Amino acid sequence: MRQQAIRWRRARCLFLYWRDGRLFLHNFAKRLTVSGKPITCEVLDFFGEWRTHREAIAHFADYKPSSVRSAVFDLEKHGLLLPKNSPEAMQDMRIAKEWSAWLPEGSFHFSTKDAAYVDRSNWSLDRLKAVMPKTPQPKFVKTVKGAEKVLLPARTSVDSEFTRVLMARKTHRRFSKQKLPLETLSQLLYLVWGVTGYLYSPRFGKLFHKTSPSGGARHPGEVYLMALRVKGLKPGLYHYHTAHHRLEMISTNATREKAWLYCARQHFVRDAAALFLMTAVFRRTMWKYQQARAYRVVLLDAGHLCQTFCLVATWLGLAPFCTAALKDTLIEEDLGIDGIRESVLYVAGIGLPATSARARRQFSRSADRHAAGPSKGEV
Ligand SMILES: Cc1cc2nc3c(=O)[nH]c(=O)nc-3n(C[C@H](O)[C@H](O)[C@H](O)COP(=O)(O)O)c2cc1C
Repeated sequence: MRQQAIRWRRARCLFLYWRDGRLFLHNFAKRLTVSGKPITCEVLDFFGEWRTHREAIAHFADYKPSSVRSAVFDLEKHGLLLPKNSPEAMQDMRIAKEWSAWLPEGSFHFSTKDAAYVDRSNWSLDRLKAVMPKTPQPKFVKTVKGAEKVLLPARTSVDSEFTRVLMARKTHRRFSKQKLPLETLSQLLYLVWGVTGYLYSPRFGKLFHKTSPSGGARHPGEVYLMALRVKGLKPGLYHYHTAHHRLEMISTNATREKAWLYCARQHFVRDAAALFLMTAVFRRTMWKYQQARAYRVVLLDAGHLCQTFCLVATWLGLAPFCTAALKDTLIEEDLGIDGIRESVLYVAGIGLPATSARARRQFSRSADRHAAGPSKGEV
């Protein structure tokens, strides 16, 4: 009965590739990959429109009806055919429509979401070595062979507030238990994500100026604060309004456990005072730049913002970190964003610097390390 009522269509979020001579089909919205035979392509081609399995049986008359029927169900099971009006068909259509300018290349964004992370924090060195490539690490420095060498004036670091901040910037993974003052948080939000001025363009009108550059001044980035230990602020999830410099409370859903889960169970994140969940509203950039290459621009923008964040936080005497290991869908659901028009890209966090003697030693060593040579750090 079910079979007669149902109509299926080929997923729009689909690409095919060959690896080691085998054909693979990948639904990037569902992140499902399955190997197939060339005939699979023909069946999927037939399902370009909504069709029933009876129509498929009539079309593929050279095959046994039972095998056509089971092929249709198999293709549904692997996310390649989607039943009409199902949540996955709706999601598939929304991605195809919203991202039409940047697909298929932009499928990378969806294919790489919600990756599985393995907690290796307790692994022994031997165990870690066992999963690393057996080839030597690539060289970290490139030398152009045969090129004429031009010596530069001696390396000097002018002693200024700016160079001290640059030299002191490092990734912190230990924090004091102290609460973060709201004034400091406010300064950080404004100096990193706030609108600091306006540009006027004859074609695009009034555009934002911020402390980080943005491709085409489109500023696709948004930021959400997860306040965990901020003096005078209820723990919760907040959206930062970049033009009005205010917080908009989304929920009181902010715990150390949630922070740990958001950042793929990295232990140090539990002790942060606040997280900054950085998202992008793709349309802002896509509207102007309809080539998939502009997806790179969105990622580059996020990188700029994060470096500004690290430097401003360091200048404010805070202990910043950033992480690309994050659980996209979990964060997006809690923020109430759809992961299609707006998606999380990057997470940054802060605490006050740890005050233990060991941490203080590490902090001052890192500030001096460019003058004193390499120091033992953490990765
Ligand atoms: C894009 C990006 C992603 C990162 N992801 C993580 C991460 O998931 N976890 C983490 O502990 N550090 C992460 N880091 C921090 C790096 O490990 C760190 O920058 C590196 O070890 C060099 O140390 P430094 O920042 O103190 O110079 C990330 C850094 C960048 C730029």
